[in-house]
Amino acid sequence: MAIMPKTITLPGLVDPHVHLRDPGQTHKEDFLTGTSAALAGGFTTVLDMPNNAEPITTLERLEAKIASAKQQVVSDISFHFGTLGNNFDEFPKVIDKVSGLKVYLNVTTGNFIIDAERLIDIYRAWPSNKPILLHAEDDVSELVGKTLRAVPKATHVCHVSSQAELELVIRSKDAGLPITCGVTPHHLFLTDKDAERLRAYGHMKPSLKPQIDQDFLWQHLDYIDVIESDHAPHTRAEKDSDTPPFGVPGLETTLPLMLTAEAEGRLTMKQLIEKLHTNPARIFKTPIDDDTVVTIDMDEYELSNDQLKTKAGWTPFAGRRVVGKVSQVTIRSNEVFKNGVVSALPGSGIIL
Ligand code: NCD
Ligand code: ZN
Ligand code: ZN
Repeated sequence: MAIMPKTITLPGLVDPHVHLRDPGQTHKEDFLTGTSAALAGGFTTVLDMPNNAEPITTLERLEAKIASAKQQVVSDISFHFGTLGNNFDEFPKVIDKVSGLKVYLNVTTGNFIIDAERLIDIYRAWPSNKPILLHAEDDVSELVGKTLRAVPKATHVCHVSSQAELELVIRSKDAGLPITCGVTPHHLFLTDKDAERLRAYGHMKPSLKPQIDQDFLWQHLDYIDVIESDHAPHTRAEKDSDTPPFGVPGLETTLPLMLTAEAEGRLTMKQLIEKLHTNPARIFKTPIDDDTVVTIDMDEYELSNDQLKTKAGWTPFAGRRVVGKVSQVTIRSNEVFKNGVVSALPGSGIIL
């Protein structure tokens, strides 16, 4: 391996797909612990999903969520709105306060799935070109293509995990449709083989896929706009129960995994910066100040469950050797994180 510099700096990273569970499930995570995990992982902006215990489908719930975030966040944050296809009156009221609209086309955490026929109505009703984010696995690919051809609004396909899903995105992009996609680190670095070993701790939506799907993702990196953590914390007690919920935490492991892949020559630093900073900032319109910088120590170390900021307190990547530990984070010239300690005051992050 080539000799590497001891530290590197990157611009502030943007994660457009996190579940910070606040309000409603703050035993799993809250805005303070979730944004602390973001800083520890080099993310200075996170975009929070709406599948809270009470889904964020009204202005009132959005405002309550923003009020809670205002008191606590140590990174910058924005929110995606939710819909079950029956809250179109709320869309114009919230449009200036959110970064996108999240639609669940498959069953996942929270009872949030919509009827397929409602998708096109949702597309027509969403009053802006802020992205519509889809949780859409293989089985609904056809529906997505059809809807997007009928109403070509900016669409971000979340957590693409299989060859079939990525092929749909590639076809849609090649046809000129306004589509982008994200892939999670767990789908890039774990397969169905790991799922056997990890049991409930490798249980997430979409599920871990065979090697052949993972290989296809790596071979078509240029079609992947964003690496998104899909940080979905659940407690050990929940994971150890008879009905473990879907989801794994990811904010603190995404950057080291990607930097390790870069060191191994699996992607370039330019691609890494595009997928963790430039593209998510552009797609979700969250500009990052030039004085927002992440410093990273490039010594090798082992990922572990200890000292994580996420309340979940575990990672499916424990035991993995990586390079790249965030040593310092500066937001708008202010030091907010150093050597494992968050120095920003709760509430000092900005609601975008
Ligand atoms: C997410 C969660 O726990 O909120 N779970 C998951 O497995 N990814 C929901 C989601 O993104 O589908
Ligand atoms: Zn999802
Ligand atoms: Zn998610």
